Amino acid sequence: MRNNNHSSEDPGIADVDQVSDAEQQQAAPRPPRAPTKSKQGGGGAAPVANEEERQLDYSLRPRSLAEFIGQQRIKQVLGMSIEAARKRGEALDHTLFSAPPGLGKTSLAHIIARELGVNMRVTSGPAIERAGDLAAIVSDLDQGDVLFIDEIHRLARVVEEILYPAMEDFELNIVVGKGPGAHSMKLAVKPFTMVGATTRSGLLSSPLRDRFGQHYHLDFYGHDELTQIIQRSAQLLDVHIDHAGAVELAARARGTPRIANRLLRRVRDFAQVNAAPVVTSEVALGALELLEIDACGSNSWRSMPAASTRWTAPS
Ligand SMILES: Nc1ncnc2c1ncn2[C@@H]1O[C@H](COP(=O)(O)OP(=O)(O)O)[C@@H](O)[C@H]1O
Ligand SMILES: [Mg+2]
Repeated sequence: MRNNNHSSEDPGIADVDQVSDAEQQQAAPRPPRAPTKSKQGGGGAAPVANEEERQLDYSLRPRSLAEFIGQQRIKQVLGMSIEAARKRGEALDHTLFSAPPGLGKTSLAHIIARELGVNMRVTSGPAIERAGDLAAIVSDLDQGDVLFIDEIHRLARVVEEILYPAMEDFELNIVVGKGPGAHSMKLAVKPFTMVGATTRSGLLSSPLRDRFGQHYHLDFYGHDELTQIIQRSAQLLDVHIDHAGAVELAARARGTPRIANRLLRRVRDFAQVNAAPVVTSEVALGALELLEIDACGSNSWRSMPAASTRWTAPS
């Protein structure tokens, strides 16, 4: 499987952050015998990340709870438990995030590790093929480290079973040998924090779900929050956007920060090509119209129009 190139983010972080066949499935539940055309081409309004967007996600990801916009209740409760764990010098309770794609699960996992001041190991359900792979990862963790498993509902059952005693008693049950001579051995691991993310919490087996001490479900974002997210991202991308421009984009982001960021990027291209120094609501509307993104955030557009397409601001 593919490694992304984010691994320089934190020393000690092995980042195999593979986004998201599962997210695609969630975004577009596939009807039986539907054509298997990719949903990712063109950068339309689907909330699923493609490669280009993984880069964007990474560069725009909030780095602390304070930077994370919205989801007030989650921030409050999670912030308290992080602080308490840090003060006690203990591992944080295992934490599960569930939400549709693009709402901030991966961002929160990174924030947890950063605020705890520990290393994080990143992997995903489908990436762990054998129980032994997971055992190797878990036994390599240091005291208090975070193990982030994205798309955790896609863990194979045999892999999942290794996790139960690891999460509950910080113990691995390893089977040594084969056939009649096989026996199981218990191996202690250092207390760690499992952070799971899923777009499909209903697909998680209940024994696994029960082993998470805290479960947060992220809601879609309101227009005000999306406006703030767009303004923050614009600053990071060095795009000048006024409030009204940000509001126009927010209204079309379908409650999803990843879509908001995607729209911002497209509008940035448009503003640049049209030499508009500031993204005003007129510039935003001109771009959205050209991209055929309607007020619901849907589009029928498949590829970015040629750079020579010019737009003139209404006088
Ligand atoms: N609460 C938030 N505040 C600011 N930006 C956010 C927030 N949630 C998500 N984002 C942006 O959306 C992008 C996608 O978030 P991510 O954590 O990768 O979502 P998920 O893992 O749920 O698909 C991030 O890179 C970040 O830029
Ligand atoms: Mg993610």
